[in-house]
Amino acid sequence: MKPHLLPSLFLALTVSAQSAQDLIDSILHPNASTQTYSSYSSEIYLNHTLYNQTPIASTNYERLEASAKQLLPAAAYDYAAGGAGLETTVAANRAAFDRQWRITPRIMRPILPSRNLSTVLFHRRLPAPIVMAPIGVQTLFHATGERATARVFGELGLPYTLSTASSTGFAAVAAANGAGNPRWYQLYWPSDDDLTRSYLQTAKAHGYEVLVVTVDTWDLGWRTRDLDRGFFPFIDGVGVQIGLEDAVAQRKLGFDATAANATAEQKRLAALYHVVTTSRGVSPVWRNVSKLREVWGDAPIVIKGVQSVEDARAAVEWGLDGIILSNHGGRQIDGAIGSLDALPGIVEAVKGKITIGFDGGIRSGADM
Ligand SMILES: Cc1cc2nc3c(=O)[nH]c(=O)nc-3n(C[C@H](O)[C@H](O)[C@H](O)COP(=O)(O)O)c2cc1C
Ligand SMILES: *[C@@H]1O[C@H](CO)[C@@H](O)[C@H](O)[C@H]1NC(C)=O
Ligand SMILES: *[C@@H]1O[C@H](CO)[C@@H](O)[C@H](O)[C@H]1NC(C)=O
Ligand SMILES: *[C@@H]1O[C@H](CO)[C@@H](O)[C@H](O)[C@H]1NC(C)=O
Ligand SMILES: *[C@@H]1O[C@H](CO)[C@@H](O)[C@H](O)[C@H]1NC(C)=O
Ligand SMILES: *[C@@H]1O[C@H](CO)[C@@H](O)[C@H](O)[C@H]1NC(C)=O
Repeated sequence: MKPHLLPSLFLALTVSAQSAQDLIDSILHPNASTQTYSSYSSEIYLNHTLYNQTPIASTNYERLEASAKQLLPAAAYDYAAGGAGLETTVAANRAAFDRQWRITPRIMRPILPSRNLSTVLFHRRLPAPIVMAPIGVQTLFHATGERATARVFGELGLPYTLSTASSTGFAAVAAANGAGNPRWYQLYWPSDDDLTRSYLQTAKAHGYEVLVVTVDTWDLGWRTRDLDRGFFPFIDGVGVQIGLEDAVAQRKLGFDATAANATAEQKRLAALYHVVTTSRGVSPVWRNVSKLREVWGDAPIVIKGVQSVEDARAAVEWGLDGIILSNHGGRQIDGAIGSLDALPGIVEAVKGKITIGFDGGIRSGADM
């Protein structure tokens, strides 16, 4: 080990080692009880020092995105990277972090006994205030799709949110995520109450604890990159697995499109049925929330897609447990404000009354 590496490794540790030997041992042989998120950087430096290995993926978001662009089919890359219209909302999300809001570092503050990001969210103690956002159609990006991301979030002990546009069903994602791990379910609210009830009951039966209702996507945004290609993976059966596997949907269709003998025509019909029932072209309204309560009971319900103080207040009035400030990563409304710009006013209005989540433009730990 090169001596000059020690100072940077030292920074990444949480130890109360007594002797030099203890300290060095704790670096060279870290164990679970001393691991922190920053142990990852120690591991990278050690791997290079000891084995001449470099990380498989960049730790810099822009370089990571650039390598994804090289590796992915162009349509899949653009589906993930694109936004609505001129993509000015995508840019505004990032600009809010880069221009309006900067960190003023403070020094000489007590951080002992250790830096600790732990928090309690909906009665669960979590190692960090981080939740996997609902991301649909993940097999577009890798064959392991939602199974892989659900497994990693299970390992980290952080909540995983399964999307209604998932390419993997409730049961398979729950199995990959692991028993007892925190799982959330994101609803694209069907136009048919029978389907809504069935999805929520299946989610509950598989241990999904928090319901996230995305209310900004009752119709698909004007996604210019996808439009220019005519790219819509759902009709090809990618991102419709929740609907395909659903017993009520199968009863309504009169066949099971996941059966071994299902025809290509049946698969296409079932996919189309899931798309039209979950992207209904008519927004739900506040008073509809009571219907979700009937099925979901007292378990937490969170509305995703809030950007205005008025809507945040309405969420409190309608008895919701939380809101997620989000503009869907700029994929729905072009010309909208940056999500971070909405945060201070909303925190001011509803802090302490309900839980507030946030997304849009987060690209590294500095943004949290
Ligand atoms: C490829 C992709 C798929 C997404 N799928 C869903 C989805 O199925 N449901 C949902 O509520 N949001 C979905 N979102 C939005 C994210 O949950 C989140 O709100 C957004 O990505 C946050 O902005 P950011 O991309 O700047 O981090 C998706 C976003 C991307 C990039
Ligand atoms: C983990 O490391 C700490 C500090 O180096 C040490 O005190 C502890 O005994 C170790 N635990 C195990 C299980 O090895
Ligand atoms: C370090 O190397 C080991 C052994 O090859 C590997 O399993 C691990 O993922 C590497 N860690 C990092 C952070 O790259
Ligand atoms: C972090 O703080 C929480 C709450 O005070 C505590 O339960 C947990 O054990 C702490 N974790 C570490 C690693 O110190
Ligand atoms: C597939 O098999 C089931 C019985 O196992 C049958 O009811 C159904 O009609 C078959 N579907 C087709 C398309 O042949
Ligand atoms: C929502 O409420 C409106 C007005 O009462 C009603 O017309 C509509 O059917 C409801 N939709 C759902 C999904 O509950």
